[in-house]
Amino acid sequence: PLVSMRQLLDHAAENSYGLPAFNVNNMEQVRAIMRAADETDSPVILQASAGARKYAGEAFLRHQILAALELYPHIPICMHQDHGQSPAICQAAIRSNFSSVMMDGSLREDGKTPSDWDYNVATTAKVVEFSHAIGVSVEGELGVLGSLETGMAGEEDGVGAEGKMEKDALLTDPEEAARFVKETHVDALAIAIGTSHGAYKFTRKPTGDILAIGRIAEINARIPNTHLVMHGSSSVPQELLAIINEFGGEIPETYGVPVEEIVRGIQHGVRKINVDTDLRLAMTGAIRKYFHKNPSAFDPRGYNRPAEDAAYAVCKARYEAFGAAGNA
Ligand code: G3H
Ligand code: 13P
Ligand code: NA
Ligand code: ZN
Repeated sequence: PLVSMRQLLDHAAENSYGLPAFNVNNMEQVRAIMRAADETDSPVILQASAGARKYAGEAFLRHQILAALELYPHIPICMHQDHGQSPAICQAAIRSNFSSVMMDGSLREDGKTPSDWDYNVATTAKVVEFSHAIGVSVEGELGVLGSLETGMAGEEDGVGAEGKMEKDALLTDPEEAARFVKETHVDALAIAIGTSHGAYKFTRKPTGDILAIGRIAEINARIPNTHLVMHGSSSVPQELLAIINEFGGEIPETYGVPVEEIVRGIQHGVRKINVDTDLRLAMTGAIRKYFHKNPSAFDPRGYNRPAEDAAYAVCKARYEAFGAAGNA
């Protein structure tokens, strides 16, 4: 059944686990996530960005998720708008049947310019008002995602601030988080702790100075009834980079958020963990490998199935590592 994010994250909090929220753009990704959830008995958050809607179109996106609901009636599924950049976008998502929306007021509507406090509170509170009236959950964001190493947001053409930022803006302040929740009543809050979107998060395996896992506990202590969300939480597994590079890819040395650090984050109170890049890497590696081994192949079913299987393996591993398995 379709459920709200609040229902899923309340259960995760009561049982001390984290729920991966995977981004979906196409059928293979939806299938990979649902197969893994079914196999591990995990609840599901399927999230779609504005870019996903642009890629697939509103109807194809909506119907893919409806197909998941039809095929897996025993699994609770939340349909979540990822990084809604305005109240209008959140409203459109709700019209598309989404049971949860993110109003990312940490950035202006262009998705690039860091906003100020009043803008973030006003837009987020507005979304909470019309969403809660009909049982839709809301995620807000306080602090700007970006690398504590470089001060940059990471993603070039996706969601993220443009230009170099002050270290201060890249770490969510616990006191401000408490005020933000009081003024907006969000169900979940995305926090900035040094992660960023995309494959290029860290130039080395992150340590405490560039990945502030400890801050999670400080924030959680101030807002115990609001669920914490970690964005930019792909682990960028070295073995996936190796497959891509072995079969003709050229991805330079880079590091993500290690799974064991995310598990520490969950112990400190993180409940929703956003993962997109790892599925992209897994699918790309599988497709490159397939064409290397089958240079004369041209049936999309030939290369899309191993791509789906590779994404499935990542999803299954995350459901298990984050403790979501067995909780559907
Ligand atoms: O938040 C970023 C997600 O990875 C979605 O990326 O905007 O390219 O769909 P996208
Ligand atoms: P990654 O790029 O680390 O997968 O992060 C995804 C994300 O935060 C989507 O909102
Ligand atoms: Na989100
Ligand atoms: Zn994100």
